[in-house]
Amino acid sequence: MPVPLTYTFMRYLAAKKSVDDRALNRQVWQRLIAALPQATPEQPLRILEVGAGIGSMVERLLAADVLTDAIYTAIDMAPTLLAETRRRLTQWAVEQGFEVQENCDGQLHLQRAEQHITVESEAIDAALFIDREHGQRTWDLLIGQAFLDLIDVRTTLPGLCSLVRPGGLLYFPITFDGGTVFQPEGDAAFDRAIEVCYHQTMDQRVLDGKPSGDSRTGRRLFAHLRTAGVDVLAAGSSDWVVFAGTDGYPADEEYFLHDIIHTIGTALTGHPQLDAERLGSWVAQRHAQIERGALVYIAHQLDVLARVPAPIGERPGRNS
Ligand SMILES: C[S@@+](CC[C@H](N)C(=O)[O-])C[C@H]1O[C@@H](n2cnc3c(N)ncnc32)[C@H](O)[C@@H]1O
Repeated sequence: MPVPLTYTFMRYLAAKKSVDDRALNRQVWQRLIAALPQATPEQPLRILEVGAGIGSMVERLLAADVLTDAIYTAIDMAPTLLAETRRRLTQWAVEQGFEVQENCDGQLHLQRAEQHITVESEAIDAALFIDREHGQRTWDLLIGQAFLDLIDVRTTLPGLCSLVRPGGLLYFPITFDGGTVFQPEGDAAFDRAIEVCYHQTMDQRVLDGKPSGDSRTGRRLFAHLRTAGVDVLAAGSSDWVVFAGTDGYPADEEYFLHDIIHTIGTALTGHPQLDAERLGSWVAQRHAQIERGALVYIAHQLDVLARVPAPIGERPGRNS
């Protein structure tokens, strides 16, 4: 595949799915599945996903056949991504034998044998959603995949926790944790400078006047959760490892890599500590390595599963 002329976030998220599927920490995933409360048509499982993107996680949970009766609320600040969630999910669910109906509010109802899943979506900033829902509604499970490293966890996490019922779960997979590695090594010192400066751009990101990002969110999440009064049930690494096999890169991962290099190049353009010409050569060389199937990319990430404590003496079931 030649170096793309244009990049879209939607294609990046779609291409990321197979990378995530390989990376997700199996132990944390199994612990999540085991901890989900029994759902019934009268008491469906209430799931809230923040920063849901194009709906990869709801599709993954459905594909794993772990949802019977559920109401899945997907929020994201980007309405176009949520429209894509509805489009992709409808197509996928029909292929899987679900009967799918969409009502005038954009709610999807998926039905197959004993499964009844409602997926509702809303384009809204997570902070506004928290303000609106605090004290109004709670969920059994809150999911934030590849999300916490983009926001100010210190100020937002307590609000997210307040949306989970006592005994309910929080699942934060693919949380970036300060490792960006490319092989083959070029000039090791320059590779290192790229990594440091790229992480700096995450640490210094400001949105609407507020800090929005931390390149070491994964490791710091333990302390943030403790401060929020939430117990960690399971944690483990979920590193992205992208490489070409004998058939080249799988799925759309060649595009994924070009997009990553393009993103790093764009983020570092004009960086005072990097020579512009060397940066340009580095970007061109990495794109060329992708075209030859020679680039290996590793990003260090963590998956964390936590539980909001239930009142003493009560089991963390639905009615606690
Ligand atoms: C890296 S993407 C991950 C998307 C999806 N969770 C996945 O893993 O495929 C982060 C998503 O969070 C959304 N997002 C970022 N900040 C947000 C905020 N403050 N409120 C709501 N959504 C936000 C972005 O629009 C984007 O879709």
